[in-house]
Amino acid sequence: MQQAEACEMKILTVVGARPNFMKAAPIIAAINEHNGRLLADTAGRPELQVETIRHILVHTGQHYDELMSGSFFSDLNLPMPDIHLGAGSGSHAVQTAEIMKRFEEVLLGKKPDVVVVVGDVNSTLACALVTSKICFDPDGSRPVIAHVEAGLRSFDRSMPEEVNRILTDHVSDLLFVTEESGLQNLRNEGISLDKIHFVGNTMIDSLLNFKEKAEASTILEKLALVRQAGKNGVANSVTRYALLTLHRPSNVDNQDIFLNIIAGLEELATDCPVVFPVHPRTRRRIREFGFEFGLGGSARKHNGIAQGSGNWRDGIILTDPLGYLDFLCLMKHASLVVTDSGGIQEETTILGTPCVTVRENTERPVTVESGTNTIAGTKTDTIKGAIRRQLGRKRENGVPKNWDGRAAVRIIDTLVRRHYEKTSSRLALVPHAVPLEDRCSCPEPN
Ligand code: UD1
Repeated sequence: MQQAEACEMKILTVVGARPNFMKAAPIIAAINEHNGRLLADTAGRPELQVETIRHILVHTGQHYDELMSGSFFSDLNLPMPDIHLGAGSGSHAVQTAEIMKRFEEVLLGKKPDVVVVVGDVNSTLACALVTSKICFDPDGSRPVIAHVEAGLRSFDRSMPEEVNRILTDHVSDLLFVTEESGLQNLRNEGISLDKIHFVGNTMIDSLLNFKEKAEASTILEKLALVRQAGKNGVANSVTRYALLTLHRPSNVDNQDIFLNIIAGLEELATDCPVVFPVHPRTRRRIREFGFEFGLGGSARKHNGIAQGSGNWRDGIILTDPLGYLDFLCLMKHASLVVTDSGGIQEETTILGTPCVTVRENTERPVTVESGTNTIAGTKTDTIKGAIRRQLGRKRENGVPKNWDGRAAVRIIDTLVRRHYEKTSSRLALVPHAVPLEDRCSCPEPN
């Protein structure tokens, strides 16, 4: 006999830009796991009403290229989006407004119980803001807003992401925090403690889940970073190389700053190859500024990979943006990563790969305190010094609290408990997804 499925909880998750996909994938996997366990636990008990979670995935279309979006769906086993808003690029105002207009219609049509937004991109803020003002009925009911990766602060309001983070946190009902600093920041901003849950990092859930699969990537061979085995039975070995990513407008839109950073890599690029997967914004600037890496007219192309010629910049190998598994494989085997990304500071922390962040600050201090990251600024000399120091350090790392691959399970557990507490007394039906002692915790205020 089939069990009745009743008043299921409807969760809508928003993704839009590249760093959203790996943060959302574990949440969808945790929902599927929850549903599977619930159905198994209650099988053969037709008297029980089973409340599975219904999930809706919305892609805003902020990123739309195959290499910036599509490939991540296959790499991360993400289901195709149920709804694609096709918002595309534009100024901050145009992009945010376009997403807001299109998302409002979706919300009114789908009426979810919960809207999950992740990270700090324009899609995150746009959808949180729309949800905070929507009204489903005369009582003013609206979905719960859950922000995954809440509380991070660079204290630099010139970063668009900092504005997105602060505003998203302040309209959210549930704030899922990745590190201690997030708890402290939210507390300092007067956000009620019962909204905050220190669950860990869903980006790290993805990393731990896909680390082994990434070993099957052939990117090292494609980039000629593998030394072939000799006839004497010596195994293939990975050549020493570094990895570089740059995409922040503050670094690549200003020619002088961009040049300072590249000059900071001079010693490194004469010492070993530096693999540089190029973001579309950065690619445009390289062309505009006439930099000589080879992406311009004189490029020599091999399998979609362009190389420069003539001087130490030969050592910098430009590639198109890479998929999740290829990039993970490159981060893992690199001697050093130089980046201005937020997420890469966290991923290198867990992989134990030394990281030099070419920014003046980080919103992720735990990566410096217990990880492998150092903040180098954007001046040539400080970058060179940081690279030397980082190349000399041991490949050791600490693991920040709750970065254990179970953050998404904690998030779904919290959402389910909250939903059941609100809607009924059928708490007995909630499966114990994680042991009680592992449940999300929020320390008492000082
Ligand atoms: C966005 C996020 C940033 C994140 C980054 C990861 C904001 C404010 N910024 O920055 O936090 O670290 O994503 O990549 O949300 N473009 C393409 N193809 C695409 C997407 C973009 O060619 O698929 C080009 C367009 O010319 C666009 C430019 O890249 O104008 C920038 O894209 P946009 O989404 O505005 O911001 P990102 O710099 O990618």
